[in-house]
Amino acid sequence: MTAILLIGNGAREHAIAEAIVRSNENPELFAYMKSNNPGIAGLCDDIQIGSYSDLDEIKAFAQSIVPDFAFIGPEDPLNKGVVDALESIGIPCVGPKKELAKLETSKSFTRLLMKKYDIKGNPKFRVFESMAGIKEFLAELDGSVIKPDGLTGGKGIRVQGDHYETDEDALKYCKEVLEKHPSVIIEEKLEGEEFSLQCFTDGVNVVDCPPVQDHKRAYVDDKGPNTGGMGSYSDSDHLLPFLKKEDVEDAHEITVKMAKAIKEETEELYKGVMYGGFIVTKNGVMLIEYNARLGDPEAMNVLTILKSDFVELCRGIINGNLDEYDIEFDNMATVCKYAVPEGYPINPVKNEKVSLSDVPKDTDVFYASVDKKEDGLYMTGSRAIAFVGIGSDIEEAQVKAENAVCSVKGKVFHREDIGTKELIQKRIDHIRELRG
Ligand code: AMP
Ligand code: GLY
Repeated sequence: MTAILLIGNGAREHAIAEAIVRSNENPELFAYMKSNNPGIAGLCDDIQIGSYSDLDEIKAFAQSIVPDFAFIGPEDPLNKGVVDALESIGIPCVGPKKELAKLETSKSFTRLLMKKYDIKGNPKFRVFESMAGIKEFLAELDGSVIKPDGLTGGKGIRVQGDHYETDEDALKYCKEVLEKHPSVIIEEKLEGEEFSLQCFTDGVNVVDCPPVQDHKRAYVDDKGPNTGGMGSYSDSDHLLPFLKKEDVEDAHEITVKMAKAIKEETEELYKGVMYGGFIVTKNGVMLIEYNARLGDPEAMNVLTILKSDFVELCRGIINGNLDEYDIEFDNMATVCKYAVPEGYPINPVKNEKVSLSDVPKDTDVFYASVDKKEDGLYMTGSRAIAFVGIGSDIEEAQVKAENAVCSVKGKVFHREDIGTKELIQKRIDHIRELRG
């Protein structure tokens, strides 16, 4: 009997759990979670609640199961060395070791590796350990982006024009960053449309999921503060309406070269997910950043239409024969919309009840930051519940996701514009204008 240990407790992991239990192997599922996600718990034979820092507890839980392998969902446990800990007791993992998860956890590691191995897709950038030279470098750039070198949950990045205006402001923020982090990365501000290309790799072979576009800003029309992602869409032809096939091929090529560079640099195989955040610009496809895990919400767009066996895919990653695995997705469009607590992300309401009693049956529901109590479901302050509509085109999927997210009762809001014709047309026009 196949047994699998899943680590993580968000909507992304709920989607991963669904993909695991759908497998022809009929696996037993076990989850180690920071908080009790009722969606995941409902699919599991056993769960344990604990901290991702408690490597001994994670190992003890794993030893009580002896799973075929573990799948690590979020970046936090990867950064804490959960893979190193589990592999030390003979449990193979889908997810990179701590040293290799630097692909996500250290922005300088990734930029410098791309540069060293001459992989195209880097903007102009420099890494600074002190304030010396920052002023001069800022003067060379048309627009700048400032990134602390470390995991900041996406909240440490500042973009000129969005978060600050002048070079003076930039200098002030760099100083602040250097007080808390060993270094700061300054890079050229890129202009274009972003897309996520989530890839699975065994360290050599790289297989793509369909590209997805996420929506980071909290409010309609890309206004308001950045969030973990309010929703996302993918198209039935496995492209996006503003992307050309060559754009996705270029992004894939960058990821293949990066996997190779990591192997050469570290003498280790990167096993797991390489999720590139790319941007298509007037000069082609550039890399914004890599993540060492699936995206949240983007995982829900791709795993809901994955046709091939997910457990077999994981085995291919672990055994190094991903080239023999035929990854297949349904030719369907998907739209994911998150219901989030009022006030999110700055001052969210907490401990407020939500009811899903009226949710239509034609959408997939994934639980995120909710707590199941005896008298119902309560929100805990972060993104609460995700709804995925699937349709033959984006509009059909959008209508389903919108109807579902609107049916939630409680103090929640969502972005009505995700996946709508109007917003997608804006993306198309933006790229058309840039490409001239
Ligand atoms: P996160 O993905 O949460 O780390 O947030 C990073 C966001 O900052 C990206 O999604 C982009 O919108 C923006 N960003 C990062 N680097 C650049 C860049 N070089 N040019 C323009 N925008 C950037
Ligand atoms: N959706 C953005 C992320 O997962 O990082």
